[in-house]
Amino acid sequence: MEFFIDTASIEEITIAQEQGLIDGVTTNPTLLSREGIDWRVRAQEILEVVKGPVSLEVVAEDAPGMIAQAHDLKKIGDNVVVKIPMTPEGLKAIKALSDEGIDTNVTLVFSSLQALLAAKAGGAYVSPFIGRLDAIGSSGMNLVEEIRTIYDNYGYSTKILVASVRHPMHVLDAALIGADVATVPFAVLQQFVHHPLTDKGLASFLGDWHKLTGGNW
Ligand code: E4P
Repeated sequence: MEFFIDTASIEEITIAQEQGLIDGVTTNPTLLSREGIDWRVRAQEILEVVKGPVSLEVVAEDAPGMIAQAHDLKKIGDNVVVKIPMTPEGLKAIKALSDEGIDTNVTLVFSSLQALLAAKAGGAYVSPFIGRLDAIGSSGMNLVEEIRTIYDNYGYSTKILVASVRHPMHVLDAALIGADVATVPFAVLQQFVHHPLTDKGLASFLGDWHKLTGGNW
């Protein structure tokens, strides 16, 4: 399973990259707006650090506008994946960009039929927003399961990119279902690292080492 980091913070991206945790990055207008810096400058900074797929989102609402913004985004870096919202105009843009060989990430997906349309239009990634579904009392993980079944039934190669992740169990469940990618906020990624028994075991080993050597090497 691939991990992307869901952030526009260069600090978080750099740490996660140094830890060897991430294969790519997803951003959105909200994440970029939190950074208080020109979005193009930040996009360039991210693309200097990350060689894997980096999702940058269009904000036009009509297909020609989305396509023009997609071309603009691709000029920033070859590894840009263009994030397009699941709308009727978005589908037109996804189809046209896919015909041109430009990878898209179909965002704001909340139903398995929307995911089927994303694959039919040629999206490279589909992003079901599971945390936002859980928050309204609907199961985000059922959605991931349904999408996996539909894509496997028909051999669609669109990658399932689990988004709106809120806690480690979302990632574990998505991995068990066979989702291709999870895009994970920095804080949740760091939660994976820690286990109380690791901390306890390390404290005990270091205590014993201190008894043995007085703390010297
Ligand atoms: C994914 O690409 C989105 O940026 C993200 O996961 C949205 O999640 P949110 O519900 O935390 O805004």
